[in-house]
Amino acid sequence: MRLSLLGLGAFTATSSHVAAFSAARKLQSLRRQTTRRTAPLHKKFTALTMSSNPSALYTPQDIKGWTALVTGASSGFGKALCKATAWRFAELGCKLIIVARRGDRLEALASELKAKYGTEVFCLVLDMMDIEKVERMDQLLPEQFRNVDILVNNAGLALGKNSVEENVTSDIVRMMTTNVTALIIATTLFTKGMKQRGRGHVINVGSIAGHYAYGGGSGYCASKSAVTAFTSAARHDLVGTPIRVTCISPGFAETEFSLVRFEASDNAAAKAKSVYDNLVPMVADDIADQIIYAATRPAHVQIQDIIAWPTNQAGPTNIARVGPSLGAP
Ligand SMILES: NC(=O)c1ccc[n+]([C@@H]2O[C@H](COP(=O)([O-])OP(=O)(O)OC[C@H]3O[C@@H](n4cnc5c(N)ncnc54)[C@H](OP(=O)(O)O)[C@@H]3O)[C@@H](O)[C@H]2O)c1
Repeated sequence: MRLSLLGLGAFTATSSHVAAFSAARKLQSLRRQTTRRTAPLHKKFTALTMSSNPSALYTPQDIKGWTALVTGASSGFGKALCKATAWRFAELGCKLIIVARRGDRLEALASELKAKYGTEVFCLVLDMMDIEKVERMDQLLPEQFRNVDILVNNAGLALGKNSVEENVTSDIVRMMTTNVTALIIATTLFTKGMKQRGRGHVINVGSIAGHYAYGGGSGYCASKSAVTAFTSAARHDLVGTPIRVTCISPGFAETEFSLVRFEASDNAAAKAKSVYDNLVPMVADDIADQIIYAATRPAHVQIQDIIAWPTNQAGPTNIARVGPSLGAP
């Protein structure tokens, strides 16, 4: 990885969830076809993670007892199969609110976290497209979970690789609403309390697409550029407070992301698979580690952005497909 530093219960689905759930169901059959295909490739590498290397000479921030809210916790960076974001916060002793549309996955994750770490977890089944609900997300939480200290705005998606003249309006609205509007509203909602209590951290999952635009990604790049800009502006607003605002901007990371991106295609699974052909991409654990790194810096240190690429990716389209050797002779 090349790095540059610059539940208790689920809510009943409403009619606004129906479209999302049916899209999710369509995806499930595709997802079953991609059972961590590249796992063996990744397992060949035992990466030394940034935050798993404690030093006797430097003291990271202890976030034990803090409440972390992670959106998009049913898959990918939010959840992953072993040690992604929700797991890592639980490991550090945080209380957790995990948010997504697929409540069954949230409940399964909550059970695992409770069994392994005794974590207090609340599952919030919420469609981030339902902006009215996002606006009162705090009221959907039990009293003991309302003081959110760490907000990880991770839920998001890319849809399609259309050229600009062929953009699909509904796709643009979905990307903008989920990736940008909901993220802004959630941040506005929870930073009020953070400011009153004098502690907090907003961690927005952006993308390299928010720094380097590419053809076929006009809607997604626009949404992630907005995340980069919003993160910076929020940091300006909160400069006189202990609240930190960080962006995490990954390159290729293999999750369900590409399956979702190509969900409208007939051959979605094959298209998604081809994205990572003969390349060792990052995985959710790598991004979770960057999130945890930012969250555990001492209180006086604020990470602006972590832009991370797979070793064999140097730009959105500059990819060397050299396989597991990473290009070693
Ligand atoms: N993977 C990459 O290469 C990559 C690179 C750069 C940035 N990112 C960004 O990283 C973030 C996480 O993506 P990922 O790679 O982990 O993809 P993923 O495996 O597809 O996970 C996306 C998560 O977002 C949730 N989500 C999507 N739409 C939602 C909605 N309307 N309401 C509530 N939750 C919703 C999904 O949950 P439900 O479907 O259960 O609702 C899921 O938990 C996204 O913001 C993405 O843009 C990904």
